[in-house]
Amino acid sequence: MSLTRRQFLWTTAASTLALPLAPSAVEGLLAQEQRQASAGGSRFQHGVASGDPLGDRIILWTRITPRDPSAVQPIGVRWRIGGDPGFSRVVSSGMAETSAARDYTVKIDAAGLMPGATYYYAFDVDGEQSPIGRTKTFPVNGAQSMRFALVSCSNYPAGFFNVYAGIAKRADLDAIVHVGDYIYEFGEGEYGAGATINRIPQPPRESISLADYRARYRTYRTDPDLQEAHRLFPFIAVWDDHELANDAWAGGAINHNPEKGEGNWAARKAAGYQAYLEWMPIRESSEPGIHLYRTFRFGGLADLVMLDTRALRDRQVASTNAAGLADPQRTLMGAAQEAWMFDELRASQRANTPWRLLGQQIMFAPITPPGTRPTNTDAWDGYPAQRGRVLDFVERERIRDLVILTGDAHSSWGFDIPRNPWNGYRKTGDGSLAVEFVTPAISSPPPAMFGSPNGTEAAAAVRVALPHLKYLDGVRRGYVVVDVTPMAVKANWYFSPDVRVHSDAEVAGGSVVCERGSAHLQMA
Ligand SMILES: [Fe+2]
Repeated sequence: MSLTRRQFLWTTAASTLALPLAPSAVEGLLAQEQRQASAGGSRFQHGVASGDPLGDRIILWTRITPRDPSAVQPIGVRWRIGGDPGFSRVVSSGMAETSAARDYTVKIDAAGLMPGATYYYAFDVDGEQSPIGRTKTFPVNGAQSMRFALVSCSNYPAGFFNVYAGIAKRADLDAIVHVGDYIYEFGEGEYGAGATINRIPQPPRESISLADYRARYRTYRTDPDLQEAHRLFPFIAVWDDHELANDAWAGGAINHNPEKGEGNWAARKAAGYQAYLEWMPIRESSEPGIHLYRTFRFGGLADLVMLDTRALRDRQVASTNAAGLADPQRTLMGAAQEAWMFDELRASQRANTPWRLLGQQIMFAPITPPGTRPTNTDAWDGYPAQRGRVLDFVERERIRDLVILTGDAHSSWGFDIPRNPWNGYRKTGDGSLAVEFVTPAISSPPPAMFGSPNGTEAAAAVRVALPHLKYLDGVRRGYVVVDVTPMAVKANWYFSPDVRVHSDAEVAGGSVVCERGSAHLQMA
């Protein structure tokens, strides 16, 4: 089996990697925005957003396009949040300042809100009002249902954000959970050709510096479908590798090459992190260093534990490196995050919360049959000792009703999670400790093995090889709607017919359900 997207990536990217750089692209984008702003265009060209909902507070976000980028004075922004879109009942309001130091982004942690309630918010600058955003706090107790969209891998030049358009049509979501690859760092044509659909990202070369990453977020946030999804629903996001560089780890990335003039990894990582925090509606940690892991409690029904399995991990090893793969010292999360995650899961179980949802980036399920080598050592299959520690903990502490939420794979999967799918597990679910839903890409292309002419046969072979696999769609772009009730968690896949054509059309894919206490997926 060959499941890695990298193989597709590098075969398509190889011919374009030598393209000359376009150093003025970032400046060109800035100049274009500022011309529009100073000519009387909107100061809110990147929309509004909300995120990280708690019972009493929520993050509100916008960006102001400056009229005069040479001015050193901060820009004053008024914000307000209330119970109706006409703001006849303002609950909280205030003033904020922004400047070039944070790329003119604005982030407010609006507090004093009621749990489980819908709110509307807006910003004002120089008499212009932003679009009116809608958002929702999480309930504190007594929740009987939770519904969210699970998404990943939104690649601007690879296709239209039809998935965001489909999600924005829904009226029934509590949140959008984004498990990474919100942007891609590549230059135009390296992984997705935007020229033919007028979606060339800025800068058109690979993003490396803070100015590059900021420009890349600005490109993505001009997309009307992404703006609308942000305007209507709170996001809960963690990053994956492409917010930094392909196959990133704590000390580098496969797509980071100092010898090619890409500089120091620590500086690049810090730049990518700064731009991510500036542009995403995330509640920022006060702890030093990169710290994105955090928990959201949904009304005593589910605890959503969001992990960063990307920026704190040890380096990937080759699939032939048996000793490296087995090394118990290698970690995906770092010791502090691992201990924190165990504490969060233990506390959730002891509180008798029905469900624990683990939002993270890469496929958790073992997909390496006996006698074969792992096909993707960037995923949990490349860190089996770390996975073993998690499963040891789940068994030892009797952690029940654990649902793992995953992106990265550019394909759709539903799994039971036994320790060993080929020994001590039965297809009826005996031996399973958890379940996993893998959301497909919003627009990134599918893995080569499924996208090839022999993709159907490849998918059939995978189904035979993996007894714990309960759902697979290898090729379509889309998202998952996850429904949580006290008795069951259900995943419903939805797909876009063609992301190279702008449309909000979608088709329903499969559904699987995990009944409480079963740790087992059944077709719904
Ligand atoms: Fe991706």
